[in-house]
Amino acid sequence: GGRQRAADPCGDGGRQRAADPSGVSLPEGDTPLYEVPRIEDELGLDRLRVKHEGMNPTGSFKDRGMTVGVGAAAAVGVDRLACASTGNTSAALAAYGARAGLETLVLLPAGKVAAGKVAQAALHDARILEVDGNFDDCLDIVQDLADRGKAYLLNSLNPFRLEGQKTIGLEILEQFRDKEGGFPDRIVLPVGNAGNTSALYKCFRELVQAGALDRDEVPKLTGVQAAGAAPFVEAIESGAESVQRWDSVETVATAIRIGEPVNAPKSLPGVRETGGTAVAVEDEAITQAQRNLAREGIGVEPASAASIAGLRELRERDEIDADERVVCLTTGHLLKDPEAAAAAGGKPESVAADVGAVLDLVGE
Ligand code: F0G
Repeated sequence: GGRQRAADPCGDGGRQRAADPSGVSLPEGDTPLYEVPRIEDELGLDRLRVKHEGMNPTGSFKDRGMTVGVGAAAAVGVDRLACASTGNTSAALAAYGARAGLETLVLLPAGKVAAGKVAQAALHDARILEVDGNFDDCLDIVQDLADRGKAYLLNSLNPFRLEGQKTIGLEILEQFRDKEGGFPDRIVLPVGNAGNTSALYKCFRELVQAGALDRDEVPKLTGVQAAGAAPFVEAIESGAESVQRWDSVETVATAIRIGEPVNAPKSLPGVRETGGTAVAVEDEAITQAQRNLAREGIGVEPASAASIAGLRELRERDEIDADERVVCLTTGHLLKDPEAAAAAGGKPESVAADVGAVLDLVGE
């Protein structure tokens, strides 16, 4: 009867769960678009906004891709999810894999992943392999595993991932229009594998094809890399058809410590056809931008601050006019990389447990 069905909807003693029609969601997206009046003033821009993707469930934009990618994997019924990662992808995959009840394997470059990200992957119960190599070596191996049918690949080469990440573009246009009227002229974002750049380009191209956006309203896609890992910038600056892999890479922005942006074929045309550009910034400029954002109350990890550092560099080169309306994408949360944050910020001072001692330090 009805009572029995309510208690045991599948009629199998609860052993098998009905598929969740909403998919695998935590949920993600709907991140804030912040005003940053001090940075705006300092850079001499009329309108600058910061879209903070660190406000997603696992603290980075990867969640937008994983809800679709892991949802697709769950729907077709794969055995094992896998990714190579500089950290954030592994954290997101671990969480969404856990949500879906699927086995998750992540390959990380040993010693080069920020503490918060490894902690997330560990607690969400991914199997973590620390590879004696860099991110690009990890991705080579995971692609090989996928080719051999041993794992389902959830790096940004997975097209479902990029479908989810397109929502960043839709949200930027909607939020900017609602608050500012009109659309931004330019979007500045950090580039690692250039998956996000590819996703934004696809989003805008489809809006133009659908007649929802005029071609001349498409924001100029502007990519930023760390100077120690800048193969994408090299390709843009030299006008090359493809990107040459850098075997040796180094930067404080470990999230984008990548020698071969595997989505370059989809993103180089995006930067070029939207009239954007790409720029490399030194680690010191990244850390300074991280402090600047923090002083507006916005906590980001180093790779995210690269967007602001790149914008500053382009303003100094006079490549961006004061009246351009710009959105910078900050891709990951401050707490992802507590060591970088502590190194960039002020140092704690020791004091005796005594109000007099405290007053001696802080004054009347
Ligand atoms: N910002 C952050 C915080 C990232 O974690 C990444 C990529 C990027 C920017 C670059 O994005 O690859 O789409 O150009 N992180 C990947 C990872 C590689 O494994 O977490 P992209």
